[in-house]
Amino acid sequence: MNHFASVTRVPGDPILSLMEAYRADSHPGKLDLGVGVYKDAQGLTPIPKAVKLAEQSLLETETSKGYIGGHGDPLFTQLLAKLVLGTDNQALTELRAGATQTPGGTGALRLAADFIRHQLPGRGIWLSDPTWPIHESIFAEAGLRVSHYPYVGPDNCLNVEAMLAALNQIPQGDVVLLHACCHNPTGFDLSQADWLRVLEVVKARELLPLIDFAYQGFGDGLEQDAWAVRLFADALPELLITSSCSKNFGLYRERTGALLVCAANTEKLIDIRSQLAFMARNLWSTPPAHGAAVVATILANDDLKALWVDELNHMRQRVASLREGLVAALEPHGLAERFAHISQQRGMFSYTGLSPTQVKRLREDFSIYMVGSGRANVAGIDALRFEQLAQAIAIVCAAPETIMESGSMD
Ligand SMILES: Cc1ncc(COP(=O)(O)O)c(C=O)c1O
Repeated sequence: MNHFASVTRVPGDPILSLMEAYRADSHPGKLDLGVGVYKDAQGLTPIPKAVKLAEQSLLETETSKGYIGGHGDPLFTQLLAKLVLGTDNQALTELRAGATQTPGGTGALRLAADFIRHQLPGRGIWLSDPTWPIHESIFAEAGLRVSHYPYVGPDNCLNVEAMLAALNQIPQGDVVLLHACCHNPTGFDLSQADWLRVLEVVKARELLPLIDFAYQGFGDGLEQDAWAVRLFADALPELLITSSCSKNFGLYRERTGALLVCAANTEKLIDIRSQLAFMARNLWSTPPAHGAAVVATILANDDLKALWVDELNHMRQRVASLREGLVAALEPHGLAERFAHISQQRGMFSYTGLSPTQVKRLREDFSIYMVGSGRANVAGIDALRFEQLAQAIAIVCAAPETIMESGSMD
């Protein structure tokens, strides 16, 4: 018997295929605006100096590679919870909030998905349209009913009214996933006034928010980016938050993150954490230790923390200046107004508003790679080549639109 005869091939991750196509491209002026990692002026994804120093210190001081507990490194989870919720957060001081360490933000989302599926049976989850594609598959694969609320429409504008109207129709008790800042893939974030309105609907419909916080420090600053998370944590007794240290600590491959839970009281938090530990045991047993130890070392040391905050500020400011630079370079082509949203968006990503046909032309004619949806990783822009990029965009925007025969790489 051929046991694997029925196994069929699933298409690869479109962003990974884009990376492969980029690598194979021999054009000397090629530009990768596809994959979602921060890049410095040399086009590299750097290891922050604070991380290197923490690693040196760990090399000297680490005495064991024994397992860490199911909830992870207690110093890491304690310090990360404060970074996310704020040092004086009431849920933390009342011992009704806690964090479980996970393999990255993805692991936190997967653990949240299993928790919802098994402990809150019947609850569906609502995702923004569009959202990070992995959200779709994580929750669907975990067996949840996945639905969508409008966020950015075909006109490439944030549509808060449509979002609120849809949230107002969500069945009571369902889970709504919100991006804390630096919305992936669009770069369009809610204003503080919008967040207050979302909170009112969440309360009125008795929804459970799951806030995905993957870019703390990449939007407006470490504290500023946590504003909505803390608003919700102060206003609601129950909340789920997924936090990732991949981007802000540059620890992508170390798989470092956490699922934070705010519960009505300590007893309930203990119940929930017992379930999370059980589920995590079945998913990955115990989380990887190294990245969490690095983060804990940095956050526990004032000098290292100050260095890390500086480096994070530098990354954020670099992306902001690339946004401004691109819009300025588009000005002589009469396109500054059309692309003004690029400098208003936050985080690494921009929904440029370029069509799949235009994205395809950029790739084929200019070796400029972005995701088929028109999402560009702004951090991938080379500041010495603003002109070249602006000119290519101007050419594809001037060309007549054709209907794409085959699907885009998205
Ligand atoms: C919106 C969003 N959530 C979560 C993640 C997960 O990050 P990681 O698993 O790499 O920590 C990402 C990473 O790209 C993301 O963009």
